[in-house]
Amino acid sequence: MKYSSFVLIFLSTFSVCSCQQPAKKAAASDIKVGGNCEGCEAIYESPIAFDQLKEVDTLPDFTEDGPKLEVNGIIYKADGKTPAPGVVLYIYHTDQKGKYSKKGDEKGWGKRHGYIRGWVKTDQNGFYKFYTLVPASYPNSNNPKHIHPTIKEPGLTEYWIDEFLFEDDPLLPEAEKEKRQPVGGNGVLKTEMKDGMLKATRNIILGLNVRDYPKK
Ligand SMILES: [Fe+2]
Repeated sequence: MKYSSFVLIFLSTFSVCSCQQPAKKAAASDIKVGGNCEGCEAIYESPIAFDQLKEVDTLPDFTEDGPKLEVNGIIYKADGKTPAPGVVLYIYHTDQKGKYSKKGDEKGWGKRHGYIRGWVKTDQNGFYKFYTLVPASYPNSNNPKHIHPTIKEPGLTEYWIDEFLFEDDPLLPEAEKEKRQPVGGNGVLKTEMKDGMLKATRNIILGLNVRDYPKK
């Protein structure tokens, strides 16, 4: 085999490689929405490229001791009716001691957010689901337990929406349950025990009460 043929075969073999590549940054053409959001860019630290993300993820703490939780829902477009496919949702939260614990090898925002984080991308029906443990609230605080979410939809920069909260949390302020302008829709989860696991649904409406969100 000639050297040039070998090079051609080598290149063509690797050009079709479906190896997992980390997510990239926002495109320069993305419209800036949501105002300032410290740490929202952590969404791009997904170990799996966005185009290969699935609608379901299991966060690393799921096999540890603690209350197991399944959260699922539909992400809708701004009309509140049309399912939105291809939307990336990044979530992270504290461990069972209320800390953003680390394994020690974290890079970037992982040093702040810890190892309990995950990424999903809605399917054709706008559906997403993730498995994790119910987090604990910060030590010695009145802060309710929460899961931080960040959204990235095509054509727009990443933005935050209201945290996932827990209706049965004694630290949850009453005002959160009937919030007048929830960002992305109300994030208070009503969990139900099923098959040995707490389950809850949160549907999300893209752009709802999100700053600078483009009007159609
Ligand atoms: Fe937090």
